[in-house]
Amino acid sequence: MNTKKILKQAQKNKYAVAAFNTYSLETVQAAIAAAEDEQQPVIIALGERYFPTVDIEGFAAMVRAMALKASVPVSLHLDHAYEKESIIRAIQCGFTSVMFDGSKYSLSENIERTKEITEIAHLADVSVEAEIGSMAKGAFSDEEEGDGTLTDPESAKQFVEETDIDFLAAAIGTVHGLYKGEPNIDFNRLKKIRDSVNIPLVLHGGSGTSEDKLKQAIDLGICKINVNTEVSIAAVSFLKSAFETAFKNEEMPHLSTVNAKMEQEMKKTMVKFVRIFSNQVKPVL
Ligand code: 13P
Repeated sequence: MNTKKILKQAQKNKYAVAAFNTYSLETVQAAIAAAEDEQQPVIIALGERYFPTVDIEGFAAMVRAMALKASVPVSLHLDHAYEKESIIRAIQCGFTSVMFDGSKYSLSENIERTKEITEIAHLADVSVEAEIGSMAKGAFSDEEEGDGTLTDPESAKQFVEETDIDFLAAAIGTVHGLYKGEPNIDFNRLKKIRDSVNIPLVLHGGSGTSEDKLKQAIDLGICKINVNTEVSIAAVSFLKSAFETAFKNEEMPHLSTVNAKMEQEMKKTMVKFVRIFSNQVKPVL
């Protein structure tokens, strides 16, 4: 399903949709299963940084097949793309939304570049997310390091008007990965951004953010929340302890069993987020 359609419904009914970063069969299965358990829509996200290791066309075909038989709406989103070529490739193989990350450019250059992407994507009925401000990086994240500049509400208004994007990633103090100190999230700024633009707002850096803060962000208009690091930590912690036990006992567990158990661990973490993000709303699916 088009991500814009999923997010417009979330915006109207005041809940957020989880965008889980995925890169394998197990991560996608876990994300869809978690959403089905909670009867909430879900966004399957794949970052441009995984293009060298993931067969994008094969991945998109796999997600499409799973989405068609899922009992909840599923969309396929390209996360943090820096290159126009990656965006075109994702559109060609069926992604239903793309994020162009021009946050490292000046406002005017970000506007120019984002506008070009929006024109291309909209021709294919693909929705576009973009970012101004820049996310800092915490612990265990696999994302690029940003400088932590928060989004200026006035610039957000200009950016949205001039680029025609469908949803805006607002930098309000969350970080990619786990927080190294106390999180300092600027809810006042979020409120100002909310008041100056009317498209769905996106929060990056869901991992390590408390339930309380996530709910506050949702109440202030966040409709999509990205989660990567905590799911990866759930999987890797499981693998670490499973292998430690197996090797101590001189066992050689089969990879298929390990994969299935790891998927269950990821699903548990994903269910936790989906439940919080739903804001106790049962959407009409
Ligand atoms: P976390 O790794 O903090 O969950 O953030 C993920 C993200 O925002 C991907 O775009």
